[in-house]
Amino acid sequence: MQVAGKVVVVTGGANGIGKALCEAFHRAGAAKVVVADLDLANAEAVAASIDGAAFKCDVGREQDIKHLIEEAERRFGPIDLFCSNAGIGGGFDPLSENAGGTSDEPWAKSWAIHVMAHVYAARHLVPKMKARGGGYFLNTISAAGLLSQVGSPAYSTTKHAAVGFAENLAISHRAHGIKVSILCPQGVDTNMLRSIPKGPQSGDGDLSPEQVAQDALKGIEQETFVILPHPQVLDYMRKKTENYDRWIGGMAKIQARMRESYGKA
Ligand SMILES: NC(=O)c1ccc[n+]([C@@H]2O[C@H](COP(=O)([O-])OP(=O)(O)OC[C@H]3O[C@@H](n4cnc5c(N)ncnc54)[C@H](O)[C@@H]3O)[C@@H](O)[C@H]2O)c1
Repeated sequence: MQVAGKVVVVTGGANGIGKALCEAFHRAGAAKVVVADLDLANAEAVAASIDGAAFKCDVGREQDIKHLIEEAERRFGPIDLFCSNAGIGGGFDPLSENAGGTSDEPWAKSWAIHVMAHVYAARHLVPKMKARGGGYFLNTISAAGLLSQVGSPAYSTTKHAAVGFAENLAISHRAHGIKVSILCPQGVDTNMLRSIPKGPQSGDGDLSPEQVAQDALKGIEQETFVILPHPQVLDYMRKKTENYDRWIGGMAKIQARMRESYGKA
């Protein structure tokens, strides 16, 4: 899909990858970019710089997503591209004392923001897109949704679930002209990454949000399902499926090294 002339919504658009996506879509000639975020001040700043529109929205709440979609369509016309990008780090424990954690709180929050937000966007947009013969969803997930991130069980698990939902969205609605892409980088230099200690997610180098947004734009133009700004991820996926047990062993070695270095710290 070409983004020129299209109405686009980006959640988590106030900062990091979402901000870079908004700017890239604007440069590519989008008719209107809607910047939706909990952080209204930064959403307004991004919107002002790209002649876009800012919305305050908590993506974990169905009512907020429904309102965002209805208001954006009322003001700017049919949404052609909806980017579920908002995400949270949360729950990084390099020592991995217990993968199950100690409470439901980080799990419930990650589930709402990384999974249900994508489900709500589909729930309220798919009927509209079906009626007009198509549309596009770009879901920012993570390489952690394909490969797991050591020390982050809630993040990795909910990102895997997001991959599962995106596959189902693509499979269920290909016949209705609805396209789906998942954006799955490793480390990207944003507030989220800076808020946790450097780890294996930075092993192949941290990319700039602008680079990741360019890759996303290219992926949308080519209508590719999996967009991998770090090309190494494809090789890791192949190695994982080739020999799952060897892969678990390799990841456990990374965990052991991490435990040792953080244990000493
Ligand atoms: N930075 C990385 O290394 C990296 C790597 C892979 C995937 N990702 C994913 O990329 C996406 C964007 O992350 P980022 O790195 O740009 O982080 P970021 O912290 O810079 O930006 C995240 C944005 O999401 C917003 N947000 C958080 N919770 C929200 C909610 N409930 N409702 C609405 N907005 C909310 C925040 O206010 C913020 O503007 C996330 O889904 C993240 O998991 C990041």
